[in-house]
Amino acid sequence: MRYGYFDDEKREYVITRPDTPLPWINYLGKENYFALISNTAGGYSFYKDARLRRLTRYRYNDVPSDSNGRYIYIRDETSGRFWSPTWQPVRLYLDEFKCRHGLGYTTILSSKFDIKTQIRYFVPPGEDLEIWDLSLTNARPDTAHLHVFSAIEFALWNALEDATNFQRNLSIGEVEIEENFILHKTEYRERRDHFAYFACSGVIVGYDTQRGSFLGRDRGWENPIAVEEGASRNSFAQGWAPIGSLQASIHLEPNKTERLIVVLGYQQNPRDQKFDPPESQNVNKNLVKPTIENYLRPSTVDLAFDELCKEWDRSLQIFQVETPDEHTNRMVNTWNQYQCMVNFNLSRSASYFESGISRGIGFRDSNQDLLGVIHMIPERARERILDLAATQLEDGGAFHQYQPLTKQGNVEIGTNFNDDPLWLVLAASAYLKETRDWDVLDELVPFENIVGSEGPLYMHLQRSIDYTLERLGPHGLPLIGRADWNDCLNLNTFSTEPDESFQTAGITDGKVAESVFIAGLFILAAEEMVQIASIRGRGQEAKEYREAAQRMEAAVLKHGWDGEWFLRAYDHFGKKVGSHSCQEGQIFIEPQGVCIMAGIGLEKGSAQRALDSVGKRLATEHGILLHQPAYTSYQTRLGEITSYPPGYKENAGVFCHTNPWIMIAEALLGNGDRAMDYYLRINPSAREHLSEVHRCEPYVYAQMIAGRDAPTFGEAKNSWLTGTAAWNYVAITQWILGIRPTYQGLCISPVLPNDWPGFSVKRKFQGVTYHIEATRIRPGNEVRLRVEGDLLPGVIVPFPPQGTSDVNVEVTLL
Ligand code: BGC
Ligand code: NOJ
Repeated sequence: MRYGYFDDEKREYVITRPDTPLPWINYLGKENYFALISNTAGGYSFYKDARLRRLTRYRYNDVPSDSNGRYIYIRDETSGRFWSPTWQPVRLYLDEFKCRHGLGYTTILSSKFDIKTQIRYFVPPGEDLEIWDLSLTNARPDTAHLHVFSAIEFALWNALEDATNFQRNLSIGEVEIEENFILHKTEYRERRDHFAYFACSGVIVGYDTQRGSFLGRDRGWENPIAVEEGASRNSFAQGWAPIGSLQASIHLEPNKTERLIVVLGYQQNPRDQKFDPPESQNVNKNLVKPTIENYLRPSTVDLAFDELCKEWDRSLQIFQVETPDEHTNRMVNTWNQYQCMVNFNLSRSASYFESGISRGIGFRDSNQDLLGVIHMIPERARERILDLAATQLEDGGAFHQYQPLTKQGNVEIGTNFNDDPLWLVLAASAYLKETRDWDVLDELVPFENIVGSEGPLYMHLQRSIDYTLERLGPHGLPLIGRADWNDCLNLNTFSTEPDESFQTAGITDGKVAESVFIAGLFILAAEEMVQIASIRGRGQEAKEYREAAQRMEAAVLKHGWDGEWFLRAYDHFGKKVGSHSCQEGQIFIEPQGVCIMAGIGLEKGSAQRALDSVGKRLATEHGILLHQPAYTSYQTRLGEITSYPPGYKENAGVFCHTNPWIMIAEALLGNGDRAMDYYLRINPSAREHLSEVHRCEPYVYAQMIAGRDAPTFGEAKNSWLTGTAAWNYVAITQWILGIRPTYQGLCISPVLPNDWPGFSVKRKFQGVTYHIEATRIRPGNEVRLRVEGDLLPGVIVPFPPQGTSDVNVEVTLL
């Protein structure tokens, strides 16, 4: 069952009813100002940091769900009837309803009582504000007299305090009211230099800033007294719950359309110009007024929207593909890249499953997210790599997370997730291959953000490698620390108290538990260092990295192979995890993916055996499970992984992030059919027809799909913010379509399903546009490249001479 459809031409997903299985959301903004918006206009907004600079309030876990948003009420002054053109919050049945989620904007269209409404929400590029661009059309035979109430509820900035510290909060709320805008200035009198504003164009006939006055006693957002009676209270909030609501009056002739613009924004004043007059407590509005006036003009709004669309056009033009498969096309060309960008911006902080309160920018998360965006935003990727490196510790370890506002490592969560530092090498090397910006390696970056501790980025990468090498266990495999990629495999913590963190409680010295996953990851990173060091003329270092990789491979083959698949780990007691000798958790997906990606066992057949085991034991119609059999009871020896009921999350769910590793492994072994089959099992567009089972948005990946041990097998959760986005993008574009940047040029080495006749790709790479036409002559993966008609040895198109703008590549598959 479907709840909408893809409009591929417009790059929109069109939701045709308000009652999707879960709120299906979108994101606005991609620099500093961000907003989450659901298909019925729910959600919230923040500036940079979803915890510390929350503009509007959201009620988690509320009923009905998706409580609070960007609300509009239309009241017919003749009949006294009122409704919400976005369905929420009034929830009066609408005669027509459509929500079109696009790239950086959402448009909700509806019709009620012959009044047609379109509201387009977006954040203009480069601005710290959001627009609600509302058009009302009168389809009645006579003039409509309407009042439009806009409403938002301000959060008192710190989202955690906002939800907990009422003894203070209920006394500190402050606002100022101007002719057509409201300022929310709580705490501005003391240490904040920022405030929010809410403005509306048109004829304003009333306002409210106190929630209780607007809603009335014992009422909710579905029937505010002010709207019911058609009369704002003109309330002035002091304390309690400040809101912004403006009432505009419209007289609409038959067949006429009128536009109203609502602006919600964030403004920071210079500290020495906070007040006007300076000795007063009044906000200085001189700096913000021109922005407000400007954006209340439709012409400015139109230009800004145009610019937003052009920006996305430019970003997406870098990689466009045409294949025989529509799901591949729409995900690769639009939605997968879009989701990668959202992940880059927000890491794991704010979604409908991440509260925006507890998780900042994850070290391993963001390094992996970079893999999906470097081609679109190389400058921002560079900055992110340097920011991440700056949170690395002198010993090469990394803070697991940092706060976006301060960019300082998060001390409460700390370090010693032993895979973390290696991901920095993968991100930096991907950046180098995409850009050839070798100077980045000489950038001086501090350790732990400490001034005076700076060393070149290259040194940070070296420390990442050393960190693993200095932490090897009894089998010569990397020690796992608190956890590796699998946060929930906690082999050194033995948690028995309900309120402690699985990752930090009762930690042992960690000198025994080892991770085969980190071993594979280490080889991947060390091999990148081999190439980087040789290109930089550091032959001796290259040799050492190669030897370290070889030693690690030998250790994996000797101690990390279980007979039919790669072992997962050794626990604190030196016992195997992920072995046929275990009762539960006999085979894990992660080491099969990453060890094969690292090239282990490709020639001698063990890689193929491991993949056959994955196919036999882990693959399901809803994706590949994390492990099998699921753990049926809690075991302190293994940690959080055994805390989940079987089939959910890390306990044998389909943890989608890991699936592309298997796709890549299959591609490496030349199994195009299997790679594509796995790709389509979790591709959201290919699951669209199962929306009543999948339940999350069909245009973005979810972190998890419930596994076969769960009663809700096939049900997705935790959509949007997940490493799944970047890795699927890498798997399909670089390994199945086979187009990947290398240090020597653009590699084109597709491993396609046998029934694909070919595909074409346009790839912009280092200022040159590659026009790639692939044709299959017969089944197989042998590749022949002709560049401008000339046969090329190998599969890498070398960098063309300076000044070349276009390169034509014919690819023949035999
Ligand atoms: C979740 C993991 C997540 C971790 C982050 C765990 O509870 O299950 O998926 O990575 O928390 O701290
Ligand atoms: C989600 C976390 O964000 C990611 O870092 C981790 O690798 C996975 N969970 C698996 O535990």
